[in-house]
Amino acid sequence: MNELDALVESATSSFAQARTPADLENAKAQFLGKSGRITELMKGLAALPVEEKKSRGAAINLAKQGVEAALIARRQALADAELQLQLKAEAMDVTLPGRQRSSGGLHPVSLTLERIEAIFGSMGFDVAEGPEIETDWFNFTALNTPEDHPARSMHDTFYVEGGTETAPNLLRTHTSPMQIRYAVQHVKTHRALIDAGGTMPEIRVIAPGRTYLVDSDATHSPMFHQCEGLWIGQNVSFKDLKVVFTDFCRTFFESDDLVLRFRPSFFPFTEPSAEIDIQFQTGPLAGRWLEVAGSGQVHPNVVRNMGLDPEHYIGFAFGMGPDRLTMLRYGVNDLRLFFDGDLRFLTQFQ
Ligand code: DAH
Repeated sequence: MNELDALVESATSSFAQARTPADLENAKAQFLGKSGRITELMKGLAALPVEEKKSRGAAINLAKQGVEAALIARRQALADAELQLQLKAEAMDVTLPGRQRSSGGLHPVSLTLERIEAIFGSMGFDVAEGPEIETDWFNFTALNTPEDHPARSMHDTFYVEGGTETAPNLLRTHTSPMQIRYAVQHVKTHRALIDAGGTMPEIRVIAPGRTYLVDSDATHSPMFHQCEGLWIGQNVSFKDLKVVFTDFCRTFFESDDLVLRFRPSFFPFTEPSAEIDIQFQTGPLAGRWLEVAGSGQVHPNVVRNMGLDPEHYIGFAFGMGPDRLTMLRYGVNDLRLFFDGDLRFLTQFQ
């Protein structure tokens, strides 16, 4: 074996001993670096006579190519080994059984709210949401509620910080303040038209949401839901209320022979006012009158607080209890079950 073949062999074996890319680079320097063995041989050429230079140069070049080939092969081998290690470390057992993800679902009261929105939506009602922290004005005063009305008492209403002595903030006790909020906005939008004597597009809206009263037993929760309804136009009557609400109840309960009763009542914001009772003709609740909503023709003072002239605009409003509708629909007898968060109860509605 000549000296150059021995050199290539020695490079190959020193590359083979390199265990990491850094080792390999060090080994490379010994042969191909600035003062590596191949480089030194090249420098030695200068001293040779011309004829020898050529053949010797070619031989060194060949050796250099041999060293470079050995280097590249070892680099590749190290990279392959690294990849194999990584694949092994990240290996997963695709035969393991999957982890079950249980799927969630809507709360029964949410299902009711969706249903209410869909039914009234199909009758051309907008759906509006409003704040749960209200001012005394929207919750009581604008709704024609007298200063000394019992609903304003500390025993019934949760008062919260903010507001003033004469206009405190509170957790809304009903969704009725949304009548004012929505109507005021609507009237503002159409103010120019109204002032010019034109006909304002009717107000037709429902406002579902959470409401609060100081109250707690099997049929009352301090937090409960209500859904307000309001229809104001130039020619909207109590008859329309009866048609709309009867249609709603029959669709909601999927019962065409459901009977409604409008029982005279009192609310400050409506005149005349009525409680709405329903009666099923079949099923476990058949024959009993069940109260589901308050309603009435919107009081002229309330129409005025909406920014409208009660001589020209009239309509009806109602407020119903989605919690109670849910209890009736599914035959649940304790309201508290809805808010306890017990999955054994809640999963039955999925
Ligand atoms: N806000 C009333 C309550 O909480 C319910 C109600 C009655 C709403 C009559 C109305 C209405 O819009 O016209 O008891």
